[in-house]
Amino acid sequence: MSNRMWGGRFASGPDAIMEEINASIGFDKRLYTQDIAGSIAHANMLETVGILTRDDKDAIVSGLETVRGEIERGEFTFSRALEDIHMNVESRLKELIGEPAGRLHTARSRNDQVATDFKLYVRDCLDTLVAQVETLQKVLIDKAEAEAETVMPGFTHLQSAQPVTFGHHMLAYVEMLARDKGRLLDARARLNESPLGAAALAGTSFPIDRHMTAEALGFDRPTANSLDAVSDRDFILETLSAASICAMHLSRLSEELVIWSSAQFAFVRLSDKFSTGSSIMPQKRNPDAAELIRAKVARIFSAFSSLLIVMKGLPLAYSKDMQEDKEVAFDALDNFSLSLAAMTGMMSDLTVNREKMAAAAGAGFSTATDLADWLVRAVNVPFRDAHHITGRAVAAAEAKGCGLEGLTIEDFKEIDERITSQVFKVLGVDNSVKSRTSFGGTAPANVKEQVKLWRARLGA
Ligand code: ARG
Repeated sequence: MSNRMWGGRFASGPDAIMEEINASIGFDKRLYTQDIAGSIAHANMLETVGILTRDDKDAIVSGLETVRGEIERGEFTFSRALEDIHMNVESRLKELIGEPAGRLHTARSRNDQVATDFKLYVRDCLDTLVAQVETLQKVLIDKAEAEAETVMPGFTHLQSAQPVTFGHHMLAYVEMLARDKGRLLDARARLNESPLGAAALAGTSFPIDRHMTAEALGFDRPTANSLDAVSDRDFILETLSAASICAMHLSRLSEELVIWSSAQFAFVRLSDKFSTGSSIMPQKRNPDAAELIRAKVARIFSAFSSLLIVMKGLPLAYSKDMQEDKEVAFDALDNFSLSLAAMTGMMSDLTVNREKMAAAAGAGFSTATDLADWLVRAVNVPFRDAHHITGRAVAAAEAKGCGLEGLTIEDFKEIDERITSQVFKVLGVDNSVKSRTSFGGTAPANVKEQVKLWRARLGA
């Protein structure tokens, strides 16, 4: 049998393989809410401008609501022969209400329909994702406040560099997430124009009111160019790009959790709820969630690049290539949302081993810069010379097998006689972090101040 929706000029139906490659219902069925909302908005508008009678419009709207109920209750039979969600819904509407169903598609095409449905779907995702990012920020801000004074080693090249506070480290991620949220909100703002009524590509000769449908669906305005309306997939690309950057941040934090929770570091402990065991090694507590978040960025990045590749070189307007947008995007957005949820759970349950961190913070001569700075401040030595003197102190401590604070005043005098016992004040890690009060620095006082500012910004 030829296709009921477009088969007028066809003598035979499609080959089974044609049907299989062509159908999108397997994945686009999740657009049913948006598809039905779009159709109801369209039907209401068609009645307002006099294209549909009141009775036909009423039959269509109540029929669409019945279809929605059937899908929600799992009573709907999706048909691959009907290709996609749009034709599955419309075909069932025809079964339910008969002839008026065929009037719904006036002044509309699946090309503007699918763009509208997908935009509505992505908009909902963006709202959820923004809320999830904020929830994670709040968890990190709580940790920052609780650990404002907790000293840990700060690293460059993953080598001990200078002591920092764990609170400061948490707030670094709060900053990244704030930019991520900004990118997601930007994507939402640019996305929010309605393609509905652009029809196949050229607009329509019917006197439709695209402003009315745009408003009914919560769009800011209709898109201004019908060709652009049905060809644009920037909105999902921009969303995936923002998601990729945020997921990259999550993967960095994940990697840190993997390192910090290892027995060798033992800076943090993940809760039982967010750890897994080994089937052979009873002692193991594995950070699987962190590892999976670290790995899931692969799908998110590849969805972004895969869709860029699909879209590159496509002539205007719609081509069936564009049907490939949804499957990768759904997978990426699902996994991004799951990653945010898992990171939030892991971080809110995380316990910090302050003693371990403090001990590690002092290792590796991490206050060497403090000693050099002290020489500049207390003895008025040029920084370059101070660097050199400090280098000798590090060598002396290394030879003695202790930290800088383990050198005696005699040891220091031998290196440079201008050094006084006042120097010991800056050699401890607590004093080191307390002194870093420059704007944006790691001092506990700064962290507490920033926590307050973030709370106010997020209304938390
Ligand atoms: N299933 C299609 C998609 O996802 C809907 C649009 C089809 N339009 C067309 N002219 N074949 O892109």
